[in-house]
This record gives sequence, structure tokens and C-alpha cells, in this order.
Amino acid sequence: MAIWVLLLLLLGVPAGSRALPADGSAALLEEERYIALTFDDGPRSGTTDRLLDGLRQRGASATFFLVGEQAAANPALVQRMQAEGHQVGNHTWSHVRLEGMDAAPALAEIQRTDEYLQQLLGEGDYWLRPPYGLIGEQLEPQVPVPMVKWSVDPRDWESRNTQAVVRAVLRDAKPNSIVLLHDIYATSVEAALQVVDALQKEGYWFVTVEELLRLNGVTPQAGALYRTGTG
Ligand code: NI
Repeated sequence: MAIWVLLLLLLGVPAGSRALPADGSAALLEEERYIALTFDDGPRSGTTDRLLDGLRQRGASATFFLVGEQAAANPALVQRMQAEGHQVGNHTWSHVRLEGMDAAPALAEIQRTDEYLQQLLGEGDYWLRPPYGLIGEQLEPQVPVPMVKWSVDPRDWESRNTQAVVRAVLRDAKPNSIVLLHDIYATSVEAALQVVDALQKEGYWFVTVEELLRLNGVTPQAGALYRTGTG
């Protein structure tokens, strides 16, 4: 996005202006399209590296919801995510199903990963994706950060088939979608990069969940669950 804004500034068009040239290029810019890819259950050596390489080549940002014990085993990958502009989030310490758990052990699972990320990456808000997307109404208000679900689920963990995942994402993706993927599978990483290539041609920008909400004027609240960029 930075390059695009810079170009507009150089052309003397204020960022955010909808005054566009009256040629064919106007249609593409008229409606800005943003989408967020999210990756759960990593990081994993081999697959996450490949994904980070591919995202960097394409100028695409993403959001990673990390399992604490996986993060602790791959700290360099977590630092690389942050350094390359991706959003890092929390997916509990050991990938537990929070729904139905007592509050104290459930919050401890969240807090342990949070403390690890604070120590590794510095102070920040590390948003939560509850494993399986399930947390339960009693626990929700006790979570001290915003929570993220998704609006597009290609069930990549089930098919482990690159083409099936690409087709499912392209069928369901819309502006402001939040897409669920898993960077622990080589098939999902390859699918994600193909999705980026296809949707960039359609004018999409790949941003983090935090950026997607901000672009839509949504102020994230602790304990609230977000499924798309508009809420
Ligand atoms: Ni998961």
C-alpha cells in the first residue's frame, strides 16, 4: 500500500481522494479492495519460511495466530513475521479447546503465549484466535484483547489439496474477508501464494486483520470477536 500512496502523492492526488482519471484505470481504483489472510497453528520450520518468502516477494501482509509451544520452538520465524510487517497473534499455548474449560486454566493458556510474545517481540496487543473458533460466552468478556474468527474457510487442513483450497478461497473471497488457513501444511502455503497472485490481479491488497479493521473505521475492542473487516 505504501507504494500506491506514494505514487498518488507524486501525482499530486491526495491519498483517500476519489478523483480519478477518466480512463479505464479508474474502475480498478474506484473501489479499494482489501482482504486479510490468517494462518493458524504455526510457526513450522519449512512451511512458514516458504510462506514468508512468498509474501515478501508479493508485497503481501498476513496475520499469524501462533501456538505458544510452536512459537517457542521457532523464535526466529516469529521475529521475522514481526520484522516483515505481519501481525502476530495468539492461538493459546498448547492449542486447547477453550469452550467449556474453567476460566482459570483457559486464561492461563492464553496468558502463557501472551507473555512469551511480549518477551520475544516487545510490548503489544497480541490478539487471540480461539482454537476451533470456539471460546464460549462466559470467557469472552474476560479476554483482554480483541478476538478474530473468519468469514472464509476453505478447510485446508482437511483436503490438503492446493487446487481445492485455491478454488474454495477464490469462490468465497470478497472485499473485507478474513480467510482461515494453516501455514503448517505445504499445500496451504502454496495455495495461499496462488490466491495472492490471483486476487492481486483483481486489485486486492493483502493487509493484516488490524489494518483491515482500521481501513473500515472499526476500533477493535478487547473481548469482542471479529469475523470480517467490518465487524
Ligand atoms: Ni488451530
